[in-house]
Amino acid sequence: MTTDTTQRTRVLTGITTTGTPHLGNYVGAIRPTVQASRNPATQGFYFLADYHALIKCDEPARIQRSTLEIAASWMAAGLDPERVMFYRQSDIPEIPELTWFLTCVTGKGVLNRAHAYKASVDKNNAAGNDPDADVSAGLFMYPVLMGADILMFKAHKVPVGRDQIQHIEMARDMASSFNHLYGEHLVLPEAVVEESVALLPGLDGRKMSKSYDNTIPLFSSSAQLKKLIAGIVTDSRAPGEAKDTEGSALFQIYQAFASAEETAALAKAYAEGIGWGDAKQVLWERIDREVAPMRAKYEELINNPAKVDALLLMGAAKARDIATPFIKELRHAVGLRALANVGTAKAGTKQARAASPSFKQYREQDGQFYFKLVDPQGKVLLQSTGFTSPKDAGTAIARLQQNTQLAISELGAQLLVGEDASIDLVLAAIESLVAENAEKAQAKG
Ligand code: TRP
Repeated sequence: MTTDTTQRTRVLTGITTTGTPHLGNYVGAIRPTVQASRNPATQGFYFLADYHALIKCDEPARIQRSTLEIAASWMAAGLDPERVMFYRQSDIPEIPELTWFLTCVTGKGVLNRAHAYKASVDKNNAAGNDPDADVSAGLFMYPVLMGADILMFKAHKVPVGRDQIQHIEMARDMASSFNHLYGEHLVLPEAVVEESVALLPGLDGRKMSKSYDNTIPLFSSSAQLKKLIAGIVTDSRAPGEAKDTEGSALFQIYQAFASAEETAALAKAYAEGIGWGDAKQVLWERIDREVAPMRAKYEELINNPAKVDALLLMGAAKARDIATPFIKELRHAVGLRALANVGTAKAGTKQARAASPSFKQYREQDGQFYFKLVDPQGKVLLQSTGFTSPKDAGTAIARLQQNTQLAISELGAQLLVGEDASIDLVLAAIESLVAENAEKAQAKG
């Protein structure tokens, strides 16, 4: 068991527990994530987002069943709970506590602009309903809960689908605001969107998705799998007629499982007029070959829920080794402290804050990461050019504070002194910032 969080890049992602994993989830998320989880340079945090599930689903039995199925699927597909942190969100009470801290530093207006919430409001407006009809506060708060998931474990990278990028940007903003108010406690995460993974078509040729009811479950019996594959849409061309691979759902699904040679062989068979029945047989055999070895492990777990519970609780215990001391640090930072301990009150007060300059990190439309140094009135003293990753921007900030003169000369053209500022103002500001941080660190230690 390892809880070393200092060295490796921390990768974190959550899976909402509302459905049964299907082949689209496997190809798009489970398989690549399990693969990535084996990278020794990273530490993985993978969790079942069951608090998030409550936002979308009010059927207790379905939440419970989905949690079991998803946990069993990920482990059957090779996620090793000894190697990574694999836990249920609801087993980490520090997450809802952090959710509240973040709620208090998040602008309501920011949440008004969240895509999922806005979509509901737009729909209501279009239908002439009250804008917030049937919108729960849970849906509204969704991004804050997600921010807590991520910031709790100081995740560097968060692999997500395109639709989730905005949430990661919001988590970054929450972290910046919190840090600005209370000191550098939270790590700014970065979204990772895997462009190369295949979007799998479903039975009807549209994207495989629960909402289209066109999915093939990852773990059905071999016979059921065959039956479902038989239902994939094809055109009406007869055996012997050449078939198009382009636009063929069957072909695209095959490609997501097969090697390049296997794919080329099926393309040739298409050109030579393979019958749809035979093509489906080829697809079924190929998928079954990949799924069969995992199926045994899945069956073992799904029939032994107590074992899954135990594995998830082990994961939660490891995760809480990190979360429990960290929330303690954060409670102290915001002022939820022992009353007898008054020695540290000064560093975090409004006056102290108002008098100090600060570094702000942000991302621009161009996708690059920037920072600026601003004085207490918000005047820009120093502005960076774009960095390719938030980590690089963060490193530059750290260097500026460790060895200011050297860092300024080394960063050179990546830094621009603000319009109404001067290099002397910049040096003085960084000096006072460093002194303030030292004071805070002393108060903390
Ligand atoms: N919202 C994510 C989704 O629907 C699931 C999720 C919850 C998540 N918390 C997270 C993903 C934290 C990444 C990090 O896919």
